[in-house]
Order: sequence, then C-alpha cells, then structure tokens
Amino acid sequence: MVTLPQVKTAPRDWLVRLAASRRFQAWAAWVPGVRRIARGEGEALFDLVAGFVNAQVLLALVELRLFHLLYDGPATPRQLAGLCALPEDRMQVLLQAGAGLGLLKRRRDGRFALSMRGASILGVPGLEPMIRHHRALYADLADPVALLRGGAETKLARFWPYVFGAAGAQDPEVTATYSTLMAESQILVAEDTLRLVSFAGIRRLMDVGGGTGSFLIAVARTCPEIALELFDLPVVLLGAEARLRAAAAPVALHPGSFRDDPLPRGADAISLVRVLYDHDDDTVAKLLAAVHDALPPAGRLIISEPMSGGAAPDRATDVYFAIYTMAMQTGRVRSAVEITALLAAAGFVNISYKKGFRPFVTSVVTAERALA
Ligand SMILES: C[S@@+](CC[C@H](N)C(=O)[O-])C[C@H]1O[C@@H](n2cnc3c(N)ncnc32)[C@H](O)[C@@H]1O
Repeated sequence: MVTLPQVKTAPRDWLVRLAASRRFQAWAAWVPGVRRIARGEGEALFDLVAGFVNAQVLLALVELRLFHLLYDGPATPRQLAGLCALPEDRMQVLLQAGAGLGLLKRRRDGRFALSMRGASILGVPGLEPMIRHHRALYADLADPVALLRGGAETKLARFWPYVFGAAGAQDPEVTATYSTLMAESQILVAEDTLRLVSFAGIRRLMDVGGGTGSFLIAVARTCPEIALELFDLPVVLLGAEARLRAAAAPVALHPGSFRDDPLPRGADAISLVRVLYDHDDDTVAKLLAAVHDALPPAGRLIISEPMSGGAAPDRATDVYFAIYTMAMQTGRVRSAVEITALLAAAGFVNISYKKGFRPFVTSVVTAERALA
C-alpha cells in the first residue's frame, strides 16, 4: 500500500471528499435530482469493475463462433450447446450474458438471436481475430502492477517479434500471423486516413512499415495515378507479393529494416501507418530523421495511428492502446503534441494534426520537409 505525504486540502477537494463519503453516497442515492447522477456514476463504476468479465464473455462468443451460428437465424440454448459442445445450462448462462451486453437478443420463445451490435461485429474487418489475439494481452494483464513495474518478457512482445529488432522477426509463420491481423484491421485505418488527408499532387508514395501492402492497395484504388512503393522487413514482404498480385496493385517492394538500412530515395511522400507507436522514442527519432533524409524538399510525411488524448485523456487510446503498447514492451501511444515535437526535432515543417472520426481507429499528423 502506497501513502502520499499529507498536503493542505485545496478548496476544490471538498467535492472529492464528499464523493468518497459513504454517508453522502447513501444520501445521494435517495434525493430526487441527485439520485439520477448518483445512479449514473454507480453504473459507470460497475462497468469498470466488470470490464474484464465483459471482455471475456465477448471472447467466448467469438471463440465459439456464436455470431456466425446465429447469423443464420435464432436458435435455442440446447441447439447451440450441441453445436458448441458445451453443457446446455452453461450455454444458457453465456447467451444470457451476451444478451445482457447487448450483443444478442433473448426472444419470448426462449431462443436467442443476433442484435444489431452483435451482427455488426461480423461486418468489421479483422475484429474477430483481433478479439481472439487479446488472449496474449489478457495473460500479460493478469498482474497489471507487475506489467507496470516492467522487467518481465510479455506474451504480446512474442506476438510482435520485431519489437526486439529486425533480427527478432525471422520466422515466416509468426510474421504471417501478425501480418494477416494487420492487413484485415488496416481496411478501416486506410478508409479513415484517405478521408482525413488529401493525396492530391503526390507522384510517388512509399509506405514504410507497410506490412503486406493493404494501405497501398487502398491508395491504389482511390488514387491510381500515384506510383507506389513498400518498405518492410524481408520476411514480411514474402507475404506481400501474393496479396498485391491478387489486388492487381503495382507496388515496388523494398525489403529492409529501418533500424539498420537507409530508406530508398525517390518518393515525394512517405507514410508511416501504425508504425511509430510500436517503438521507443529513440527508434522513432532515428526513423523520422531517416524519413526526412529520404524525402526531397517539400516532400510530405503522413503519420496515421491512434493517438493519445494528451492533456485531455481519451478512453480508447489512453487506456487500450497505452496499455497494449506497454505490453509490447517497446511501444508507446503518443499524443499529436508529442509526435509534433518529434517531427520538429527531425527538421519537419508545416506540421498539421487531423483528429480522426474514430480516434480508436486512427488520427493523422502530416508534415513536410522544408523547401531548402
Ligand atoms: C503494427 S504493423 C503495421 C503494418 C501496417 N502499416 C498497417 O498499419 O497495417 C508494423 C509494421 O512495421 C514493420 N516493422 C517493424 N520493425 C521494422 C523495421 N525495423 N523495419 C521495417 N519494418 C518494420 C512490421 O513488420 C509491421 O509490418
């Protein structure tokens, strides 16, 4: 247990002390007007307390493919228990929990059906594999204080082996697993990035850390006049060729590591999509300096990734992404202000921030190399 040195109570602290008082809470629960606020606060608190259980119920629904099974129509707990090899009474508990979370609907006849929210999980590209891979994150979070203290190797770091340097990412099977997850979830990121940034005037775009090319495939569809280049680790690019061929997207491949190799020159724009938040400040500073060197005068840099709310902490990015990148061990979710400072230190000018429509999907910072 940690205790802080006593300081004189500031005048505004009386509200905090009031909220922490059992007597006040008991009073507030019954007084008209205040009661509604108190109930709302109680519900919000309970949601936080139950959060891990909610997430695990969602994981069980995904693991058992219940959203797919119910897509074909409502079913009884007995039918679903048979299909999922689960005891019927336990399936009943899971279905009831899914309905409690608003993911399923319980019908009068006792059958369960998909709700709009549950059905929408099927339409979000990559969401089910994303939920499934959270097993590694949740295992690392079993002792959150130990994770915060640091020092121990995490399961999530092994899922993303490049966090230990390019030499760590050699196994094609491991690389294919994370590349597929990235490619599927990239669809929404690319949609939002292309809405937030104008690519007009760009002749040649190089996507650094572009995985198997999903972002470039999206760019090719909207801006077919732009010549495209992809830079990523050699083992990752092995999986890019087939994807790019299938999408008929003409992309020049540059295998290499931005930690060890110089970036190719010739592109008048470079994108870094969900790359910076994987790495520590030192690696990011070197990468931004390398990008600056690789660009011509007035060349453009587009950074797209979920960003911290900074001075206004944000529920999605400052909880999920901050803890996720911490569990990766080398990463850090940064605010637009922090990214701007790193860009300015690397020599970039005309730095501009565009908050995403869905900050949990992405936000964008753009910058330019100075004219001279
Ligand atoms: C989180 S993934 C993002 C992939 C893609 N940009 C996207 O948003 O779907 C990070 C990418 O950076 C690549 N990467 C990591 N370290 C790298 C390095 N040292 N050199 C080149 N690419 C690297 C990884 O292989 C991976 O494809």
